[in-house]
Amino acid sequence: MLSLFTEGRAKFYASPQQQASAKTPVFYNPVMKLNRDIAVYVAGRLKPKQICLGMEASGVRAIRFALEASLSGITANDASPVAVEAMKKNIELNNAEDAISVQNKDIKKLLSEGEAYDYIDIDPFGTPVYYAEPAIQALSENGVLAVTATDTSCLCGRFVKACIKKYSSRPLDNEFCKETGLRILIWKMQELGSKHGRALFPVFGHSSNHYIRAYMQACNNKGAVEQMKAQQGFILYCHKCLGRRVSVAPEGHCCGADMDYAGLLWLGSIWDESLVDGFTLIRHIAEESAINVPWHFDTHKIAKMLAVPAVRHDVLIDSLHAKGFKASRTHFKPEGVKTDAMISDFVPIFRQ
Ligand SMILES: C[S@@+](CC[C@H](N)C(=O)[O-])C[C@H]1O[C@@H](n2cnc3c(N)ncnc32)[C@H](O)[C@@H]1O
Ligand SMILES: [Zn+2]
Repeated sequence: MLSLFTEGRAKFYASPQQQASAKTPVFYNPVMKLNRDIAVYVAGRLKPKQICLGMEASGVRAIRFALEASLSGITANDASPVAVEAMKKNIELNNAEDAISVQNKDIKKLLSEGEAYDYIDIDPFGTPVYYAEPAIQALSENGVLAVTATDTSCLCGRFVKACIKKYSSRPLDNEFCKETGLRILIWKMQELGSKHGRALFPVFGHSSNHYIRAYMQACNNKGAVEQMKAQQGFILYCHKCLGRRVSVAPEGHCCGADMDYAGLLWLGSIWDESLVDGFTLIRHIAEESAINVPWHFDTHKIAKMLAVPAVRHDVLIDSLHAKGFKASRTHFKPEGVKTDAMISDFVPIFRQ
């Protein structure tokens, strides 16, 4: 039995919410509405002509692309015949048949059929790594790959070995672990792309609820892969003084001991200016996107380390600005401050 839902301008049938799991016949998770809202926003701005939504379940994302962003040329695919049957009915229900064609294939097979797409969305249960390579190869020049990863316990440092195995990169279990997770996800997609001479540069990313999402644009320009690799590296981190720095090697010293590290990962900018300009779906992304450092600080953690009371965000950010630093809140963490200041620059502000 399916239930009727509405989301954005789409109305559609999917399995009832209490059944939402990997075994659900027509999967729909209302918590992922923000994921789809942002996809509608990004695709609406980029106006791709050929779109592949490769793991579409109920078809809600495809229908919203058509109705809310006026997009067409959408291929909506799912491996499950039951989901595809519901998807077809949902597309009819929304009169979106002209914009959306339906496929019932394994995503890897679909993406290996020689069609090039300007936008490909991979929205699996868990990691997108297994599906990414054919997707990257099927991107048109300047095409955008959007991936969701729900295996955050791995990317964000709780299961270090699993992350190294899946993403070939070491995560960090610390105050900026979610940002590190996003940067590892981007790095892994880039690494898979570079095997085929394709560079991928992030244009948007976020960490929300229990998942991480990255949008990356393909670039075939000469030298693009080298340019991309020049912005990859390691983050060294000291658990004692909260100091951190970027490095080309996974080793360094601080406070008389070896530093912990994350990487390899993407160290460059995550957000394209044209996409954050006017973006309001997640607070703080527009401000933090202007500060190109691959981490943030946690005000409570600094206060605890210094054994002093916490400083209010606005006071801290004003003080950092007064000292000539860039500083803003971050969407990654309510207690977070993104800044180009170093940990030593915080000490006088907290001790004032
Ligand atoms: C998390 S759900 C997708 C949710 C959907 N994108 C949305 O926004 O509502 C994952 C979907 O991937 C489908 N799937 C799993 N493995 C697949 C594969 N190898 N190829 C295509 N679809 C697959 C499942 O049937 C399921 O419907
Ligand atoms: Zn230290």
